Amino acid sequence: MARNRGRVLLAGATGRTGRHVLDALAETPLVVRALTRDADAESDLRARGADEVVVGDLLDADDARRAVLDADAVVSAVGVSAGLETIRGDLVDGAGVVNLVDAATASGAQRFVLTSSIGVGDSKGGLPLSLRAILTASGVLSAKERSENRLRDAPLDHTIVRPGALTDAPATADVVVGEGGDSVRGSVPRADVANVLAHSLFTRETENRTFEVVSRPGLRGRADNVVDIDWTPLPRPEAAGGEGDQERERELAE
Ligand SMILES: NC(=O)c1ccc[n+]([C@@H]2O[C@H](COP(=O)([O-])OP(=O)(O)OC[C@H]3O[C@@H](n4cnc5c(N)ncnc54)[C@H](OP(=O)(O)O)[C@@H]3O)[C@@H](O)[C@H]2O)c1
Repeated sequence: MARNRGRVLLAGATGRTGRHVLDALAETPLVVRALTRDADAESDLRARGADEVVVGDLLDADDARRAVLDADAVVSAVGVSAGLETIRGDLVDGAGVVNLVDAATASGAQRFVLTSSIGVGDSKGGLPLSLRAILTASGVLSAKERSENRLRDAPLDHTIVRPGALTDAPATADVVVGEGGDSVRGSVPRADVANVLAHSLFTRETENRTFEVVSRPGLRGRADNVVDIDWTPLPRPEAAGGEGDQERERELAE
């Protein structure tokens, strides 16, 4: 595969957010490698635009290493499903993402875009108390905090995206981006979060920053830490001759 076009590993490509990220990245010149634990999902992922599919479990460090081999960038939209998985021990949100960050670092990837959640770390107050209690008890918040911290400490250019409550509504492109904790609260369509994740990969301004993301309609909270991001458009194959695109692709591939 053309490494000089840059290769991105999409972890969580089968998920409800990850599927939208796959749609967006498949339209770019990047080689998109999708990760799933489900071998039966391969044909669907390829039909949706994945160039490569790796079957593996991020809770297995060897699988994480295999998944990220030769990748220049990683986008993670993995998360534990509700239910038994949360009481079984290690969560993909914690141990799994830590394995992925470590593997990305070891393999020489440069860029990592992580889906976390409002409620983690200094955004704790952005989560309604009842939900915070449930997610604290299940260990999801502490697991996500651990992986956020691992990523911040890693020698990778990172963007951490903390969405509010996810919905399956269509994309609106009308999101509010907060930076600095719990001032932004509300819900947001997965499709909008996916756009933020995909665009973050190409927007230098988002590097080494942590954002809270919710929809503007229904925005709650003080919203006094809102930032304006000048999102870089996703590169298109037909526009790949453009100087800016070539520069960004070179950087991802270096
Ligand atoms: N639900 C909310 O309101 C909410 C709010 C804020 C943030 N979030 C976060 O947003 C993210 C996306 O959520 P979502 O609801 O769109 O996700 P989802 O539909 O539940 O998808 C989860 C994805 O994680 C993958 N996955 C789970 N365990 C894995 C493992 N051990 N190894 C590799 N992959 C694994 C699954 O892949 P396979 O099954 O194919 O392996 C699947 O693609 C998650 O991080 C979630 O915590 C959710």
